Amino acid sequence: MSFCFNFDVPVQTNAENVDGSNLQSGEKDSAAQSTEDTTKSAEPVKEARKHLLPYDLDFLPGDAVFETVSIGTLPPLHFLNETVFEKTASEREDTENIFSLSAEQKSDLISGVYEGGLKVWECTYDLLELIEQQGATFGGKAVLDLGCGAGLLGILALKRRARQVHFQDYNSTVIEELTVPNVILNCQQHDEADSEDDKEGRGKGKTEKEADCEMKKDKEEVTDSNPPPKKRAVDPSQHPLLAKCCFFSGDWSTFLALVLKTDPPPKYDIIFTSETIYNTAYYPVLHETLHKLLAPDGLVYLATKSHYFGVGGGLHLFKTFVEQKGIFSVDHLWDGDEGLQRHVVSLRFKTAKSS
Ligand SMILES: C[S@@+](CC[C@H](N)C(=O)[O-])C[C@H]1O[C@@H](n2cnc3c(N)ncnc32)[C@H](O)[C@@H]1O
Repeated sequence: MSFCFNFDVPVQTNAENVDGSNLQSGEKDSAAQSTEDTTKSAEPVKEARKHLLPYDLDFLPGDAVFETVSIGTLPPLHFLNETVFEKTASEREDTENIFSLSAEQKSDLISGVYEGGLKVWECTYDLLELIEQQGATFGGKAVLDLGCGAGLLGILALKRRARQVHFQDYNSTVIEELTVPNVILNCQQHDEADSEDDKEGRGKGKTEKEADCEMKKDKEEVTDSNPPPKKRAVDPSQHPLLAKCCFFSGDWSTFLALVLKTDPPPKYDIIFTSETIYNTAYYPVLHETLHKLLAPDGLVYLATKSHYFGVGGGLHLFKTFVEQKGIFSVDHLWDGDEGLQRHVVSLRFKTAKSS
């Protein structure tokens, strides 16, 4: 089954989903001039919610194929290969119906319905490479993987000693069927070689955020009778890495409202966001989310293509939007020039001490 990558296909936009602005017809330069004027906040289309971890984590699909990303000195990152979703789309049931919709439409993006989180997008790899080159570690940091999809960036932070890692994706199906299984898989595979974190976390009792992330208890007792690795059950309440994670689905505006209700509201030292600026209609709420949730001296790592054909957004438009807002300064950390141009940039508050 061939899927359309890079959004170079007509995107279903309707008044219910976004704000009706015609993204496909916007030429880069003319659109850039008027980003501030023409983009309106996308209507909230998917109410945010926090996901409870299942107590019995022995739920990974039997037909799952796993992949591992190994980049230089980074700990290996394991994830479910998306082909399992493609092959089994017709039999799988999800309340959002995104498996069958994306299979039927042969599309990686159905705006306002499915925002592309079931596969790992290439800019995620660019950002992983950059982190490897920078030797960045995340010891003690509060991290948000915004628009996480498979969650590899958040998982890396988790393995590199982050204090807490929150994962957000638009689709609840992505969180439940991909992000959570991937995090669990990595916790299961988190052996001594990976384990820069365990030594710190193990035996310390509840971490700061553990109470915040409720666990769903299954009535059945979990027994560990030496099953194969991908089937081994993990008790999240006992696992130091899982206890640091929270999972959210929903659109950014309601996600922001939800997390701002927590006491105290989170401020993230690091926000990763990869391949999330393809739709200019979402820029206001994305910017607001970064503005409200980034710690005063925090850093946003944004990985993106120059331009998303068929959708209209891209780095030039987003930078224009950010500059017009005047809140963040943007620095280029990496610029690729092969094929479709890709970039990694950072955003930090103009008022940040280190800027
Ligand atoms: C193309 S996917 C990228 C997934 C992942 N970051 C990667 O690089 O593999 C874009 C992600 O942005 C998120 N996203 C896009 N628009 C959103 C919106 N309006 N509200 C919430 N999340 C959104 C979705 O969660 C989606 O998974």
